[in-house]
Amino acid sequence: MKIVFFDAHAFEQESFESANAALGSDKHELVMIKANLNTTTADLARGADVVSIFVNDNASSEVLEKLSTLGVQRLALRSAGFNHVDMKRAQELGFRVANVPAYSPYAVAEHAVALMLALNRKIVRASNRIHDLNFSLDGLVGFDMNGKTVGVVGTGKIGAIVTKILHGFGCKLLYYDVFPNTALETSYGAQFTDLDVLCRESDIITLHTPLTPQTKHIISAERIAQMKRGVMLINTSRGGLINTADAIEALKAGQIGYLGIDVYEQEQGIFFNDFSDTVLQDDMIARLMTFPNVLITSHQAFLTNTALHNIAETTLANISAWAAGRNSPNEISA
Ligand code: NAI
Repeated sequence: MKIVFFDAHAFEQESFESANAALGSDKHELVMIKANLNTTTADLARGADVVSIFVNDNASSEVLEKLSTLGVQRLALRSAGFNHVDMKRAQELGFRVANVPAYSPYAVAEHAVALMLALNRKIVRASNRIHDLNFSLDGLVGFDMNGKTVGVVGTGKIGAIVTKILHGFGCKLLYYDVFPNTALETSYGAQFTDLDVLCRESDIITLHTPLTPQTKHIISAERIAQMKRGVMLINTSRGGLINTADAIEALKAGQIGYLGIDVYEQEQGIFFNDFSDTVLQDDMIARLMTFPNVLITSHQAFLTNTALHNIAETTLANISAWAAGRNSPNEISA
């Protein structure tokens, strides 16, 4: 099949080429395009059997209609999340959509913990200081993770691994999910609770739910006010879980003591791009970058070689199933 990849990055090229080569005579034609999928770029999919998109492509109703008029009706997501696809419209238009449900929950969980440790022990600040030949320790005091209470919001694949890792650190664990995960209680002593208690009692709160209408701005001014003063908030899930404007106010007031984010509400069009030679137009992220207690990474939590290998293999397996006239093993619907 001819697959047109939108938002294709150099870092994924090698894993796709080797996963494709392994298919031998069943291999596909891969066309890598740097541009994001949107109404203007959709025309680049002309002649494709499958369009493959990443987290910051936009499969809105309008874009899907455009693809459909080009005869493209298969969408292979290189991500687990599908909040960027209008699934209802996709179904109406007869699209087949498949995702990569789990490529490495360890990669994301470990990155969430990396953000916690780097913020706590002020690793970035310390490193910058040393490059400036300043070896003083003032302003670098951290805290022991051991004994701290961590609230894990969403204990699916990633949240469960975060719980396991933090249990190893000696943290007290609270968790909230729509479905209690009793294995976390027996294995790691995690305590199931509601969001009110979790916000009130946690020293660190880490978010691992998908972005849905129910979880949009699950962290807003009202919730932040319930939290301990100086709380650490970590988000490696989706930017829309946090009301960023409220988080900025809370950072200014000292209510949030540390913010670590791998995702940002308005990341589309910013993350994955190099603006080092231009003027940044997004005032919200510009403000976030002024806080010494904010650490931002550019949606890289998934970015390990294990995850890239799994993304490539699963994406191509989804497409090979379509090529063989079968349902993809990871077909999703509205
Ligand atoms: P999962 O589906 O295994 O777990 C999600 C959990 O959230 C489930 O236990 C579910 O019951 C819970 N949940 C759903 N709605 C909820 C609600 N309203 N309130 C409380 N809990 C709720 O997903 P997984 O693999 O753990 O991934 C979590 C999220 O991480 C993904 O949805 C995605 O947005 C994000 N992600 C981020 C990546 C990155 O590179 N930064 C990479 C991969 C995923």
